[in-house]
Amino acid sequence: MTAFKDNLLAGKTAFVAGGTSGINLGIAKRFAALGAKVAVAGRNAEKAQNAAAQIAPDALGLSADVRNYEAIRGALQQAVDAHGNLDIVVSGAAGNFLAPALGMSANAFKTVVDIDLLGTFNVFRACHDLLNTPGASLIAITAGQAVNAVPLQIHACAAKAGVNQVVRVLAMEWGPDVRVNGISPGPIAGTEGMARLAPGSEGRSTGTHERIALRRWGEIEEVAEAAVWLCSDSAAYVTGTIIDVDGGSQLGDATRRNMARGLA
Ligand code: COA
Ligand code: NAP
Repeated sequence: MTAFKDNLLAGKTAFVAGGTSGINLGIAKRFAALGAKVAVAGRNAEKAQNAAAQIAPDALGLSADVRNYEAIRGALQQAVDAHGNLDIVVSGAAGNFLAPALGMSANAFKTVVDIDLLGTFNVFRACHDLLNTPGASLIAITAGQAVNAVPLQIHACAAKAGVNQVVRVLAMEWGPDVRVNGISPGPIAGTEGMARLAPGSEGRSTGTHERIALRRWGEIEEVAEAAVWLCSDSAAYVTGTIIDVDGGSQLGDATRRNMARGLA
């Protein structure tokens, strides 16, 4: 689908936390297709092994909860034992559901913050001494909720805002040997996230296109392309940034204004 050379990531090793389904699995598949040796991790061991089987014959499917530092450290070590030190680490595990603040217990709020934010800290903290440096690339999968106030999403807004700051701080602390960036997908078709956030859609596009500059939901593969670029040498001078792969979703208000003026 792109001009990336088929062997762009040959000789590289990658670990994708939360890479057992959806967008992150798509990223893991693309890394492997471009020659990387890949490990994915999620809570469910059977799901992880099924995912690995879809990625490549030598891909590893590991079971670890990102909320548990020792568990994720152990999974990272297993990946290194099998494939060697890591060049690419993606932190993409997340949890989400729609609920108003008053319909959410403290534990419900904490659960999402723990998976998304503490989980990203844990994955990146635990991988640091297992990286091939210089040149290692870390990518957090964040979301528009990090910068937009979204009703029924107080937990995800707080968690993903924190994820963006983890990216920025680690880029400062770990440069120049390690680059740290984020990808903020917009609504991506066929995902668990959209099945949850757009009830009734089963993760498929609904009548929400007018809020999106490019007038459609994105595809998993389009997010994966950004991940490949970020961990390639082409992005050697890119760190501490969040790339929106969202069709201009965050320009929603501007898009509506343009439509009202007959400009779109
Ligand atoms: N509304 C309000 N509270 C909810 C909720 C909802 N829809 N769903 C779960 N909660 C609450 C639970 O009641 C519990 O709080 P309590 O102890 O006060 O009752 C708390 O959240 C934790 O729930 P639990 O089911 O024990 O958490 P878990 O760790 O097993 O699962 C979730 C985490 C809840 C985020 C679960 O939805 C999940 O595993 N999600 C992963 C997949 C996903 O969300 N993908 C989309 C990514 S964008
Ligand atoms: P998904 O299919 O539900 O993927 C979530 C992954 O994380 C699964 O592999 C899941 O496996 C794992 N996971 C969940 N909790 C975990 C935990 N505590 N420890 C370890 N692994 C855990 O979700 P998705 O919709 O593709 O979303 C992927 C990422 O993109 C998330 O970071 C999300 O916030 C972001 N995003 C998605 C969209 C979208 O349109 N879908 C938009 C913006 C941002 P187990 O259940 O087996 O643990």
